[in-house]
This record gives sequence, structure tokens and C-alpha cells, in this order.
Amino acid sequence: MTKTILKTIKELNEWRLINQRNINFVPTMGNLHPGHEKLIREAKKSKNNLVLLSIFINPLQFNDKKDLINYPRTINKDIDLAFSAGANAIFIPCVDEIFPKNVNKIKYIKASENLSNTLCGIYREGHFDGVCTVVYRLINIVRPEVIFLGEKDWQQLLIIKEMVTKYNLRVAIKSIDTHRDLNGIPFSSRNNLLVKNDREKLKFFSKELFHAKKIFNQTKTISLGKIIKRLKGKDIRVEYLKHVNAFNLKESTSEMNITMLAGAIICGDTRLIDHVFFMKRDPIIAIDGPAGSGKSTVTKLIAKRLNFIFLDTGAMYRALSWYLIKEKINYDNHKDLNSFLSNISIKFKSVEGAKQHVIINNHNVTEKIRSQEISSIVSSIASIKEVREFLVKEQRKIGDNGGIVAEGRDIGSKVFPDAELKIFLTATINERAKRRKDELEAMDHGIVDFEQLKNEIEKRDFDDTNRKISPLIKAEDAIEIISDGYTINQVVDKILEIYFETIPKELHL
Ligand code: PAF
Repeated sequence: MTKTILKTIKELNEWRLINQRNINFVPTMGNLHPGHEKLIREAKKSKNNLVLLSIFINPLQFNDKKDLINYPRTINKDIDLAFSAGANAIFIPCVDEIFPKNVNKIKYIKASENLSNTLCGIYREGHFDGVCTVVYRLINIVRPEVIFLGEKDWQQLLIIKEMVTKYNLRVAIKSIDTHRDLNGIPFSSRNNLLVKNDREKLKFFSKELFHAKKIFNQTKTISLGKIIKRLKGKDIRVEYLKHVNAFNLKESTSEMNITMLAGAIICGDTRLIDHVFFMKRDPIIAIDGPAGSGKSTVTKLIAKRLNFIFLDTGAMYRALSWYLIKEKINYDNHKDLNSFLSNISIKFKSVEGAKQHVIINNHNVTEKIRSQEISSIVSSIASIKEVREFLVKEQRKIGDNGGIVAEGRDIGSKVFPDAELKIFLTATINERAKRRKDELEAMDHGIVDFEQLKNEIEKRDFDDTNRKISPLIKAEDAIEIISDGYTINQVVDKILEIYFETIPKELHL
């Protein structure tokens, strides 16, 4: 393998032109350690892409000049490690190459205020602006398909993700879990600056965090005061220790599910950070979208892949509609409806092949609820306040312990507003009508008229989005996926990729 070292943007462009392949990019500041090695090996996994590692000590992210001067520089060792881990090329630009004196060329980026005005951001003024500016610049220079970052710097990771979304940068972000040594200390370039006594302090700090995690798993509480006291007892200078929401970094509250205990300690002249994640219940994935968007199939497959419960809320509304008709209930009469609802039990029963049966009061209605008769009335029944309240309560009960993938029309906005991942899955009307036609014909419903189906879907969209109670809406924090032109498996893979990128890796282990 040729060992290519690129020093200028011109050389980088020529290298890209010769190779004509997409780039997996690992940005670093050098002094490579096993954590970086893991990033390179991860980047190497997609066989088609080239792996480019950059080594650039970014002056903009050092608020303390002494820290910049002391930052460990081990370029020859770094080059050997990067190539032996599988990098195809290393980009080692000088400061003038990345930040030329001609200031007009450089876009200075301000890091998200919400994410940077807490934890490290409070103690390192301008640090995250400097990180964003250099990463933005490097992305523009390298134009990678994927950028690889470590979860050890979780706050940095969230801030870079936010920047990539805000500026619509065409790059995917992949993160890897924090890599620790045998003592449980996270690998970090700054560890090299520690003397033995400081190493012991760092080891104690990391151990305390994991001890807190153990206690949290048993009691669902943590005492920051006690941890700080124990750290101080070991003569450890705590810069901060905070328990925050893992995604927006706001102070944690009892309703939050995934949270993070994060801290920074000072050992000699060196500042070190570490964190652990807590999770009260397993994650919830909410998949909303209009009729025929492929939600059910996608949700089922995701549940199977994650070994989660598949909550088909649409089937619950359909089953209830079927039963109301069968029992000839006058659902306009609230009293009749309420007494009817108080005797309803809807269950899902798993059967072979990742399928599940829908049972309402001992009637197996799995097939019957897919008829066109039910399709044409379910939307109006689903708009009855009592019906929705009853089913939302049932759905929340099923979701109490998490570990579910739920699909419907108001899952992310109403049923599980705290879901860790919200997807709004949609497709054009033509595509959805075509899918529904194939589905119905495969179920022996005879030849189905395409235009009629299209009209029905259009009407249903209108009813669903315009009803007063829990209309179909894309939750503010939902990610929209338009599935035209994608196979079901491609959509499933995409959602799983987003899921694994959202939930900290420490919690997958
Ligand atoms: O995490 C780092 O090493 C740096 O902050 C980064 C992302 C390479 C930007 O300089």
C-alpha cells in the first residue's frame, strides 16, 4: 500500500482526482492513541471508500495558549500508527493552509449556543466555535462522504452534528464509543501529559462515574454532592460535575430517560474529561406518516432487528372500528361508547416469522381489519375524542418499559413525545397508491382500481391532517424520510443507522 502524505489542499485535490473514490475522514489533532486507531479501523470497514486521516493542531480551539504550546506532538509515531491501522492517506497541513491570512476565505462558525453554554463550554471560552470553524473548513476541503468522531467528546459530537444539520453539509457522521484502557481510563492525547499520581486520580474519577452508574441502575438516583466529596477526599480538583440530558445537555429532570453524568477534573496543568450514560427504560422509536408510506412493514422489520416490541397503533384503531361495526354500537352516543370502551381489550400476539396477530376481546381480526370497508371508516372513528384517549392510554401502557417501535400518526407528537428517535416516513401519493394496490391484490382482494385508491388515500390524508384531535403531524424533532425509490430494506437500514447514531454506543453494549 502506498503511504501518501498530503501537505497542501492542492495535493489533496490531486490525490482525490487520481483515486476517484469517496472519502471516509478521520479528523485529529495528532498524538494518536488506541481510540484513534479504533476510528480508523471503523472507517476502513466500508471497502469502497478511501480513509483519510488529518493531523492538524487547531489553534482556534485552544483558549489557553499554554495548553496549545504543551499539546503533545508525536508526528512520526502518528504516521506509523495511522498507516498500520489502514489509513490510505494522511493530510498534515500547516496553519496557513487551513487558515490563510486572507481572512475573507474563512467562515468563522459559532457553535450552537444551547449546546455550548454548559459543561466544557463554560470553562473553555470560544473552544467549540474554534472546533466548529475547523471542522467546517476541513469538511469543505476534504468533501468526505462520512466523518468519524469519538463519543469520548460527546459535547463536541452533538455540536458538530448540530452544525452539519444547520449548514446542510452533505456529510454523514459516524461515532464510535469511548475506548478505555484496562484501568477504565478513556484514551486521550492529554493522558500523555500525566505523571503517575495524576493517572491514579483519573482512574479514581472514571471509577467513581461507573460506580454512580451502578447505583443509578439500582435506585434511579445519583448524589452529585457525595461523588464530589469523595473526589475531593482524593485531592482531585473538580472543575465541574453535572447530570444532564444526553441530547440537549440541559440539567436532568426526573422525566428524562437517557442522561449523562459528565465532569472535568484538573490534574496538574492538565484538564481531563469523562462521562457515563444512564438510561431508565429501553429506547422508544416513533414512526409516523401517512397511509401507504410503508410504516407498518418498516416498523415490523426494525422491531425484529432490535428485538423490540412492534406497536402497530393503526391496527388498534382498525380493530376497534371493526368491533364497533360488528357490535352495531352507535358511537355518536358518548355514553354507549364509553361503556363499550371500558370492556375492550386489544392484544398483540407474536407468531412465527416476526408476524403478530391482533386480538380484540378474543376475536382474531388480523386479516379482517385490512379490508377496504375498515380503511374507509377508520379515520373518522380515530377522530373521536374518547376513542383516541382510550387508545393513547393503552399504547402508553405498552410503552412503559420502552424497547418498542411504534407506528401511527401521532406517536412522536402525542403518544410518546419523549421517544428517543422520531421518524416521519412518507412517500408521494402515486407511490403510496401503487404500493397499496399491490398489497391488496396480493391479499386476494381482486383487481383494485388505481385512481380510486389514489382518491381514497388523498381523502384519508386530508382527514388525518385536518382532524381536530391528534391530527397527523410531523413532530418538530422528527426526521423526515421520503421513501420513493427506496426498497423497504434500504429504509429499514437508514432508520437503524440513524438509531445507532443517536443512542450513545455505551448503552448498546
Ligand atoms: O476531537 C478532536 O481531536 C478535535 O477537536 C477535532 C475534531 C479534530 C477538531 O480539531
